[in-house]
Amino acid sequence: MAVNFRGRSLLALLDLSGDDIRYLLDVSHLLKAERTAFQINQRFRGKTLAMLFEKRSTRTRCAFETAFGEEGGHPVFLSSSDIQLGVKESIEDTARVLGRMFDAIMFRGFDHKTVETLAEFSGVPVYNGLTDMFHPTQVLADLMTMEENFGHLAGLNFVYAGDGRNNMANSLMVGCATMGVNCTILAPETLYPESELVDTASQIAYDSGSTLTITSSLEEAIPGADVIYTDVWVSMGEEEKAKERVTLLKPYRVNRELMEMTDNPGAIFMHCLPAVKGNEVTEDVIEGSSSVVWDEAENRKHTIKALMVASIL
Ligand code: CP
Ligand code: NVA
Repeated sequence: MAVNFRGRSLLALLDLSGDDIRYLLDVSHLLKAERTAFQINQRFRGKTLAMLFEKRSTRTRCAFETAFGEEGGHPVFLSSSDIQLGVKESIEDTARVLGRMFDAIMFRGFDHKTVETLAEFSGVPVYNGLTDMFHPTQVLADLMTMEENFGHLAGLNFVYAGDGRNNMANSLMVGCATMGVNCTILAPETLYPESELVDTASQIAYDSGSTLTITSSLEEAIPGADVIYTDVWVSMGEEEKAKERVTLLKPYRVNRELMEMTDNPGAIFMHCLPAVKGNEVTEDVIEGSSSVVWDEAENRKHTIKALMVASIL
């Protein structure tokens, strides 16, 4: 089905249909091939991008900034200590001002409501570069990386092991379900994702002919997996939970034994990064031959560029 993405925002993958994601991935693969062949275009010449950060970032910031800049656009980095973002000026008013000056806005921060308000009031495409609830642009890169490795998405068996209620688990559940990937969230029961989101994702999975499983059992989750994915045990903003998380999540550490439990020599290891080596993943797994984490990081740039090309031009 033909997709017209012009003018659209990406706040959560729940906003996207399977056709939308298919389209964005197709553009991503094209842009990656173009970049690999050193073809330089100037698609964003004369355009501006506001980049708002309440939290730290390496990949997301660099992906947005280099993708926009190398196409001739002007990205402007604004940390929350530089601008009035809910301090002295409401988010609504900041959004309206930025919307008059920029062609698009990206936001990374805490409250998901902030990115929704920016989208509602700015009148330009807004991209969620991570909130406490969702990290949709990461999952576009993850799906692209899976497709590069397996040549397809539908029918793959994907396992996320770790904190089942963080922004990555939430977004992966929805992204996998939308694209027909069988998804298992492997987590201790106290860190299961919210039931309302599980219900929504289960319906999406049902519609795409895939499955969504939430379990605390490694024996149930791991055998037959094509992808083992993990994320930090302590997300940004939850630093006080560090001690209890290590105790809770230690049994779910991705080590060689867990990878072998897949009984699948072609299984790959993925991580959105940054990784705390020795916590959620052992050094030998992340540095081993099944790890695709550096491709995954590179693909942030191609997928983010595709999202901006599709929504701005
Ligand atoms: N994966 C990811 O979002 O990385 P950064 O926090 O470095 O942006
Ligand atoms: N769950 C992590 C993802 C980092 C990319 C965090 O929010 O810190």
